[in-house]
Amino acid sequence: MTTAILSALPEEQSGLLARLEQGQRLVHAGRVFWRGSLHGHSVVLALSGIGKVAAATTATVLIERFRVARIVFTGVAGGVGEGVAVGDIVVAQDYVQHDMDVSPLFERWRVPGYEGVCLPCDPTLTAILSEAVNVCLVSAGSYFDHEFMDTAPRLHLGLVASGDRFVTCSEVARALRDPLVAAGHDVLAVEMEGAAVAQVCLDYQLPFAAVRTVSDRADASAHVDFPAFMEKVASRYAERIVQQFLEE
Ligand code: ADE
Repeated sequence: MTTAILSALPEEQSGLLARLEQGQRLVHAGRVFWRGSLHGHSVVLALSGIGKVAAATTATVLIERFRVARIVFTGVAGGVGEGVAVGDIVVAQDYVQHDMDVSPLFERWRVPGYEGVCLPCDPTLTAILSEAVNVCLVSAGSYFDHEFMDTAPRLHLGLVASGDRFVTCSEVARALRDPLVAAGHDVLAVEMEGAAVAQVCLDYQLPFAAVRTVSDRADASAHVDFPAFMEKVASRYAERIVQQFLEE
């Protein structure tokens, strides 16, 4: 069984790539894929690039061409939920596309053809992933310590929103989150790819789970916080969590 480990950007993947054994580099659809063995497990490491279409293309290639059995996304996100701080870890239970709006024909945010507003992740894979994060947080000691956090990192499990927008202003973050919360959908974090992968995986009935480390608060300092976090911390989280996940 081959597991795809998907990330958007090289900084999120570099730690994993450094540990890959028998790595074989393949280029397809303008993307680089690495097939190999990670901690004794067959994996394909892939970079989607940014945005929902790029992520959907990559997920489709992973399924159709590489025949992976499951996809795990690891990357960063902007924290928008109450108490979701920089350095915290969010495991997605489900996804919403915050820029999808076919109202009044369909319920706001609902992707026509799919049940409800939220696109579910695979519950079993998500439980394994969140257990792996829990183990990391308990056992990693100061491994996740870094200059960007104020409190010890915490795990949040819930809804993540994706859309083709990098959110750099708290008014925009509120405008995006508040109506969802009012409709009963408490969004923890925003990013730009996960919901697209969730949708593709629903189409193919392939298990999907996602973990996102909070790099910024999707506010006026996001454009500074995001690259600093990416450069210094992102790969460390991904490497440790994926190792624990593969061992679970
Ligand atoms: N990924 C990380 N931070 C983000 C933000 N502020 N907006 C969208 N995607 C992100």
